[in-house]
Amino acid sequence: MSKESALAGCTSWTSLAEVEKAAKNCQDCVLCQTRNKVVFYRGSVDAKLMIIGEGPGQKEDETGLPFVGRAGQLLDKILEAGNICREKEVYVCNVVKCRPPQNRVPAREEADACRKYLEAQIDLVKPKLILLAGATAVQHVLKVKDPISRIRGRWFDFRSGAKVMPIFHPSYLLRNDSKEPGSPKWLMWQDIKLVRSALDAI
Ligand code: URA
Repeated sequence: MSKESALAGCTSWTSLAEVEKAAKNCQDCVLCQTRNKVVFYRGSVDAKLMIIGEGPGQKEDETGLPFVGRAGQLLDKILEAGNICREKEVYVCNVVKCRPPQNRVPAREEADACRKYLEAQIDLVKPKLILLAGATAVQHVLKVKDPISRIRGRWFDFRSGAKVMPIFHPSYLLRNDSKEPGSPKWLMWQDIKLVRSALDAI
């Protein structure tokens, strides 16, 4: 896998508040026409751990907060089980900040138009660890197409100096309920334990 990042740090914003304001007024792709709320982040701006998902769903679009629907609730449970405090230890955001209609996968041009906001979030939050939840985040941040099942649970070097780990998207876990050894939920649990250890080692 190439370690080269798809994201090159090149934004001129100096604060997250500025970036959020710009994102909230953004009209750079068609998603602005159907969104209710721009979904920028939740969690702590001082977090050492960033989790990047795909894009807002219906609940996120209604509330303006990422990962608050069913997948988000499962993510919260997983973090809690792993003893990771979602309010203090995590900054959660997405590849695209506006909901794709019918929750479709964001188009390349939509992700590209939103890239500047994600770059700025990474540059300004400066997480030491980044989790990429699902294929969309992996493809747009690490720019690789390897299946998550092959690359999850491994740390990759990132241009910002952070370590990046692909993980299953929580919505995939919602569709795969088994907790048997080797199942997606079981593998996620192994990954979260690695994340807790890495946080403790920082
Ligand atoms: N799925 C995502 O990838 N992000 C969200 O914010 C919600 C669901």
